[in-house]
Amino acid sequence: MRIDIITIFPEYFTPLSVSLLGKAAARGAIDLQVHDLRSWAHDLHRTVDDAPFGGGPGMVMSPVPWGEALDEVTAARPGPPQLVVPTPAGRLFTQAMAAELSQCEWLVFACGRYEGIDARVAAEARARMPVAEVSIGDYVLSGGEPAVLVMIDAIGRLLPGVLGNESSAAFDSFQETGHGEGLLDCPHWTRPADFRGWKTPEVLLNGNHEEIRRFRKESAIEKTARLRRDLLKWGPEGGK
Ligand code: 6GU
Repeated sequence: MRIDIITIFPEYFTPLSVSLLGKAAARGAIDLQVHDLRSWAHDLHRTVDDAPFGGGPGMVMSPVPWGEALDEVTAARPGPPQLVVPTPAGRLFTQAMAAELSQCEWLVFACGRYEGIDARVAAEARARMPVAEVSIGDYVLSGGEPAVLVMIDAIGRLLPGVLGNESSAAFDSFQETGHGEGLLDCPHWTRPADFRGWKTPEVLLNGNHEEIRRFRKESAIEKTARLRRDLLKWGPEGGK
């Protein structure tokens, strides 16, 4: 997968060179390019923001450098890419959206700061490429950068060859293919079987794989009912 990120804080993305995703990038499973929006500014001070029309507090990111940045980044390869714009006003980012975006060959993330990006940037881009405005939750971040780190982590670990054990993503919390029905993952235990008097459930030690499978599914359902009733498709608050 090819990923381009346009931001005024390129250094924000150094965490992507460590851990699982860093190794994926080193092996070529993810081809990541970070671009400094200020390189498309035109003045000595490399200004990318301006006062809002109509007045009020804060600054708005200018459509001019954004337009040129998107022109240049999206012309660099056969496309078009899927453009992702992080904003608290976007569609809520979910595991299903991560799975969908992981199918794209090319993603471009456009990180806004200040009070946001001039409204015409997304509108004009939409005439040329699919645009997803996405939020990672109901709280306000000072910019899209941390949200993009979150999204790239969730998307990247679904790519073939990124996880060590490829089958393990299927059993993640929320994944429809695991214990089923988009549940939380079941709890896990490892050695020692007795930790300070806290015992591992006997069923996990007996080698009966059918019993173990059933135990894990039941604990996933129990845990989901206890912690996240909203995820269950049945029951009083069920249905999604
Ligand atoms: Cl994607 N961006 C910003 N700036 N704030 C957010 C967000 C995104 N998601 C939740 N809050």
